[in-house]
Amino acid sequence: MARLKLGVLISGRGSNLQALIDAAAAPDFPAEIALVLSNRADAGGLARAAAAGIRQSVISHRDYPDRPSFEAAMDATLRGAGVELICLAGFMRLLTGGFVEAWRDRMINIHPSLLPAFKGLDTHERALAAGVRFTGCTVHFVRAEMDDGPIIVQAAVPVLSRDDADSLAARVLEAEHRCYPLAVRLIAEGRVRVAGERVEIDGAGDAPSTQLNPLD
Ligand code: GRF
Repeated sequence: MARLKLGVLISGRGSNLQALIDAAAAPDFPAEIALVLSNRADAGGLARAAAAGIRQSVISHRDYPDRPSFEAAMDATLRGAGVELICLAGFMRLLTGGFVEAWRDRMINIHPSLLPAFKGLDTHERALAAGVRFTGCTVHFVRAEMDDGPIIVQAAVPVLSRDDADSLAARVLEAEHRCYPLAVRLIAEGRVRVAGERVEIDGAGDAPSTQLNPLD
């Protein structure tokens, strides 16, 4: 069976890209990375793509007069590579409604919180300040509003009393690296349907239980 062609968009270190590279290395994974696209030439993730022998492209927003022309260049490159699903993985540019609509339900993002809580930046600092007992990560279809859109996969991660933003980020990142390949696999298997801005997944198992945090 043909594997779903992914275009992974990055701006930085690319640890989620690495999780997708590692997942796609399994022969039975139903997706492959056709292109890694970065808006920054110094993104650490580009070396990961190179090491895996994946085609890569740098399209700098600075080379374009406005957002639509930058996005038109990305769009042409993605389509030229045969990309069927865009995975935003630490891509730090806001996208216009035009680009988002052109890739509606064919573009996903990973965000380090349990959306709709803590959209935007500094999620872990804000989770700590709010005193929440759980945070986590979310993979969702992209809509025009930032960090908004139908939720595909989430993982809950406990906030521990000794946590600072770095330790919490590291714990959430481990969950991200499990969630992103899972979401891609479910989509590539054709099991994900968007119905009225909610995602329905065919044959997905339910989480086993409610958790308490703290215990006692
Ligand atoms: C991740 O925390 C992701 O959730 C957020 O940006 C970060 C990217 O990290 N959107 P990396 O580049 O994948 O390591």
